Amino acid sequence: MEIIKDINGIREKINEARKAGKRIGFVPTMGYLHQGHLSLVEIAKKETDYQVMSIFVNKMQFNDKNDYKNYPREYERDFAMAEKAGVDLMFTPDDEIMYINPLTYVDMDSLTEHLCGAHREGHFRGVFTVVSKLFNIVQPDVSVFGQKDIQQAIGIEKMVFDLNFPVKIIIAPIMREKEGLAMSSRNKHLSEEQIADALYIYKSLQKAEVMIESGETESGKITFAMRKKIQQGKPDRIDYVSVVDYKTLQPVRKIGEKNVIAVAAYFGTTRLIDNMIVEKKEKGYLCTY
Ligand code: PAJ
Repeated sequence: MEIIKDINGIREKINEARKAGKRIGFVPTMGYLHQGHLSLVEIAKKETDYQVMSIFVNKMQFNDKNDYKNYPREYERDFAMAEKAGVDLMFTPDDEIMYINPLTYVDMDSLTEHLCGAHREGHFRGVFTVVSKLFNIVQPDVSVFGQKDIQQAIGIEKMVFDLNFPVKIIIAPIMREKEGLAMSSRNKHLSEEQIADALYIYKSLQKAEVMIESGETESGKITFAMRKKIQQGKPDRIDYVSVVDYKTLQPVRKIGEKNVIAVAAYFGTTRLIDNMIVEKKEKGYLCTY
């Protein structure tokens, strides 16, 4: 695996791969890799021949200075994991390379009004701007994003459509710890007790699934029961428990054709998110989480 910091170096390597007839897969990350990140590489490998990963803790998308400062960084460990997973080229730019007095941003309307967009000022503008830049630098054929950050993944699909990026976006399943906690770089900040408490987020999704399977479609009833479940884990704060339409990410009163049920809650100072996709099928609903 080659590790390159500068943009021209990356472009050279990717041109070489293209000339050799390879299709480019791309997984952008902020590092402190876990199995969730590596599963995205696995999926990209199925459709492409040359895997590029980026690790860049993107200051522009952090609305909380401490969260940025404390974001776990362990590059050597990440490089070893990425190489083992089959990454061919690792892009590790820094702030000076990515942001030279920027005046241009990529922002999005209604899709970022709710869920994390309502609680993290400027977050998605930072995400869409950096992902646009990374797409322009890497010019991948395929890029894989996790369902774990569902608003981000759906937003990137929309951005790629609206701005005509020639890249196929794949949304990949959520990788979880054995007991069900969604893998996240931020889990490193949790104590053992908090990990046990945070499991109630997963349990709240299971609760929603059981309710939906038994015929409940009222968002209010589902989110009320979910909140009660999360409260058992004594969260320090619940940002939201929401049922939204899959396409528009606007809240809905009732479960419809395709929805997202999403949660964000704090355990200590660590903010965790999780979600479930609910799709109407011939017989009942399919819940994916
Ligand atoms: P980061 O949080 O490092 O996540 C990188 C990618 O891994 C994202 O697509 C995310 O959805 C996915 N991912 C995280 N946890 C996962 C899990 N448990 N299972 C499956 N996939 C998971 O998301 C970002 O970085 C940044 O916003 C980025 C897109 C890199 C832009 O800065």
